[in-house]
Amino acid sequence: MLQTEFWEHAILFSVTAMAFVVFILFAVMFTQDLTQKTHAIRHNFPLIGRLRYQLENLGKYFRQYLIAQDREELPFNRATRNWVYRTAKGGSGSIGFGSTNDLREQGSILFVNASYPLLEEELTKVPPFVIGTQCQQPFEAANIFNISGMSYGALSKASVRALAQGAKETGIWMNTGEGGLSPHHQNAGCDLIFQIGTAKYGVRDEQGNLSDEKLYKISKHVKAFEIKLSQGAKPGQGGELPAAKITEEISRIRGIPLGQLSKSPNRQKEIRNANDLLDMINRIRDVTGRPVGIKAAIGSTHFLEDMCETILHRGVDCAPDFITVDGSEGGSGSAPQLLADHVALPISEALPIAVDTLMACGLKERICVIASGKLVQSAKVAWALCVGADFVVSARGFMFSLGCVQSLQCHMGTCPTGVTTHNPWRQKGLVVEDKAKRVAQYAYRVNHEINVLAHSCGLTNARHFQRKHIRIVQQAGKSVPLNELHPYHTTKHY
Ligand SMILES: Cc1cc2nc3c(=O)[nH]c(=O)nc-3n(C[C@H](O)[C@H](O)[C@H](O)COP(=O)(O)O)c2cc1C
Repeated sequence: MLQTEFWEHAILFSVTAMAFVVFILFAVMFTQDLTQKTHAIRHNFPLIGRLRYQLENLGKYFRQYLIAQDREELPFNRATRNWVYRTAKGGSGSIGFGSTNDLREQGSILFVNASYPLLEEELTKVPPFVIGTQCQQPFEAANIFNISGMSYGALSKASVRALAQGAKETGIWMNTGEGGLSPHHQNAGCDLIFQIGTAKYGVRDEQGNLSDEKLYKISKHVKAFEIKLSQGAKPGQGGELPAAKITEEISRIRGIPLGQLSKSPNRQKEIRNANDLLDMINRIRDVTGRPVGIKAAIGSTHFLEDMCETILHRGVDCAPDFITVDGSEGGSGSAPQLLADHVALPISEALPIAVDTLMACGLKERICVIASGKLVQSAKVAWALCVGADFVVSARGFMFSLGCVQSLQCHMGTCPTGVTTHNPWRQKGLVVEDKAKRVAQYAYRVNHEINVLAHSCGLTNARHFQRKHIRIVQQAGKSVPLNELHPYHTTKHY
């Protein structure tokens, strides 16, 4: 009896003490809200006003899972993300009942099916395509859909290793991005394209200039070089690598001092015009013997017209071996919202401009075209082929295959899935062997499905796509053939 009474008193005392502590806490917060001068809402609605900030912060997570419709979110809606997840896990591409894709929506892609498609036995595999045929060491690329540039730094070690292993397994190439060549890229032995960013990480001397000696060394491990002029998400903007992110390994790989902020210039400092660009391309090609291309976001026809005229003036041998056209909808590890939202053309405009300009100058056969910009599904990849691209690359499609959940935190180092964080605990969740398989399955499926689309259009393989094989919806329910929307250009004579 005495014991029960003791416990009753003890519980009563604890509850009163807790209520008192909570009361004091609320009183302190109330006073803080009333006296602070930064937030009007907290001042005018003490305590309750705080809820707004919490809800605003949590809202994006709840919206993604509970509220947003399947085809509503940006940059990638749930239907697209789920398609990549399913594909990467080797699931079937089948759906039941019918499509939730509104085919009358402006911009929808409709392939022109053949009335009498070819029989199975008439179909062929996509043949390999050679980039830089006249180089000492041309690059024979087996697949159309490949991995776009993302640096080791923007991506975690585990991600780079999974991507490289997946690329090897399925025979696609991987672009290193501008952060240099790491052992994690090399271990699997996949085909690599080395990107030379504006800071020339990995191929710079102590003053930050391009080093022929380092270029030559790197050329032994990669298939081609890509000079980055600009990127769709942030044209005209360099980057900053904070001192805290420069580990001993990163300092060695990038060729920069430990513990000092490293800035990438907003332009390749030697390249002020088309002549400078061609000079640099030819220098790298001479030193390495490998194909050399460029990557650029496009704002108008001027850049390519000017480059093509300069090539024709100097001789077609000096041309880049490929051009990667990056749409303004492209992603980035970190970009100013202003540039990401408003600068450069989306791939739907940039790609036809690039292809048409090369055709008009008679250079389309000489310079191969690679397209990127939210082309993460087979139908979008096939659209790019219809326009005239020779290859398509994706960054975020492959991030989804690694398990990215689009938490939009690449620039904060807090990626919950370990894809873009250097936090060792979070990286442990990304099991390299397992994710490499998903990368391979995703790449395989896209490369396979573009052929399925080609067959449906009566073609033997996806390399035969032309603009007449696709229609684009212009206004509700009315589609126009792509060859009417963007007629092929005939060669001009300069
Ligand atoms: C995390 C991340 C890192 C990136 N790093 C680079 C880079 O180092 N160099 C580059 O040219 N582009 C970089 N990009 C851009 C991609 O290569 C690609 O051009 C762009 O995201 C469009 O492809 P997507 O829409 O399939 O992602 C990066 C993109 C992301 C998401």
